[in-house]
Amino acid sequence: MNVAVIGTGYVGLVSGACLAELGHHVSCVDVDPAKIEKLRQGVMPIFEPGLEELVKRNVANGRLKFTTEYSEAVPDAEFISIAVGTPSAEDGSADMQYVFSAAEMIGKQLKRYAVIADKSTVPVGTSEQVTEIIRKNFSGEFDVISNPEILREGHAVSDFLKPTRIIIGSPSPRASEVAQRLYAFLDCPKFVMSPRSAELTKYAANAFLATKISFINEIAHLAEELGADIEEVAAGIGSDPRIGKDFLRAGLGWGGSCFPKDVRAIRHKAGTVGREMPIVNAALEMNARAKDRVVERIEKAVDGLSGKRVALLGLAFKNNTDDTRESAAIELLRRFLAAGATVGAYDPEAHVYDTELETKFERHENALDAARDSDVLVIATEWDEFRSMDLSALKLAMKGNLIMDARNLLKPDEARKHGFTYLSVGRP
Ligand SMILES: NC(=O)c1ccc[n+]([C@@H]2O[C@H](COP(=O)([O-])OP(=O)(O)OC[C@H]3O[C@@H](n4cnc5c(N)ncnc54)[C@H](O)[C@@H]3O)[C@@H](O)[C@H]2O)c1
Repeated sequence: MNVAVIGTGYVGLVSGACLAELGHHVSCVDVDPAKIEKLRQGVMPIFEPGLEELVKRNVANGRLKFTTEYSEAVPDAEFISIAVGTPSAEDGSADMQYVFSAAEMIGKQLKRYAVIADKSTVPVGTSEQVTEIIRKNFSGEFDVISNPEILREGHAVSDFLKPTRIIIGSPSPRASEVAQRLYAFLDCPKFVMSPRSAELTKYAANAFLATKISFINEIAHLAEELGADIEEVAAGIGSDPRIGKDFLRAGLGWGGSCFPKDVRAIRHKAGTVGREMPIVNAALEMNARAKDRVVERIEKAVDGLSGKRVALLGLAFKNNTDDTRESAAIELLRRFLAAGATVGAYDPEAHVYDTELETKFERHENALDAARDSDVLVIATEWDEFRSMDLSALKLAMKGNLIMDARNLLKPDEARKHGFTYLSVGRP
């Protein structure tokens, strides 16, 4: 099938490359000429395991192309996927300008029946708005479906090629048939539902997962006071299939390019129909407290951060990605700086978008260099390499002896054996 993917970010680039891998002919469109130029030269604009090989293979076999021109991608496409950003607006709603501008550009280039799929995470009612925008620009037949993406950064390629489910929110049997054909090679349940249900499904999933993390953090803080171990508690409750073992890792709270903005957006949308969301509000509040508590415990342990040197391990919002959008680690960095500390940071891949912030801390090539002369070492992202660091070398390099392991990566006994004062989340 001829496919156009609008937006070549984490979702668009991965889904475009994966659809090409499945045998479709895919043209990826982006308004950022620098990004398209890089991609044409085989340089990946993001770090995502397995992506580079996939892109290169499918460009070489002629099934994957990159362009800045809608006119080169849309007219021949039977399926057009919108995968542009939907960041938070100031009031917490999803900023829809990129989706709507993509819809207008698509409408201007449509020449035949096509299915336009909202793959971006968009508020309930968007598929109707996108339909209206396209109709203003194209008088022929088309359908707009909601087809929310479920991939996770760091596992994006395998999540797309081996999904647990595909959500198809379709207004017509004709559009569902096209979507089913597009995904025919993916062996998973396909849930066909109304566009509004599909749009709400995506927000409900993210709000639920964020709430689950906030819940385990709340229990972790209680465990700290009561002398229980959250890892043991999580294993104990997670073995109940009604609860499930995933998303029960206590730590620094949730961040990233999806959960914070999506949780705020569902709350905002609820407000527009007169609904409050007490559980979602509590999840947000608990998420802020998770970071507060880590900072407060460090401040208490080192008697204030002013004039102290912090080694910060991790900047990305989670492991295996370079993405730092709304990263909890970046928030810690800002708080340490605001408290008067100097910070030496290390992250193997993270991309810091704030150029002013970048000038305010030192970025190192490895954990040991970041740790040199520091009073406290903070683990803020769950990169695997932080689990197996040489603790003796770190101890020698540091001035102080405090580790705040905000992702519970190290073994407490092991850290203490090396002479560290070791703090983690929810563990005695
Ligand atoms: N990142 C994730 O893990 C993830 C997972 C599931 C869903 N989503 C959702 O998918 C959407 C995209 O997220 P992302 O992380 O890939 O965003 P991103 O910011 O990485 O990429 C968006 C891309 O769209 C391009 N763009 C903007 N306006 C455009 C236009 N009018 N025409 C063509 N290109 C345009 C930008 O230049 C950018 O390259 C969001 O709604 C997000 O919530 C993201």
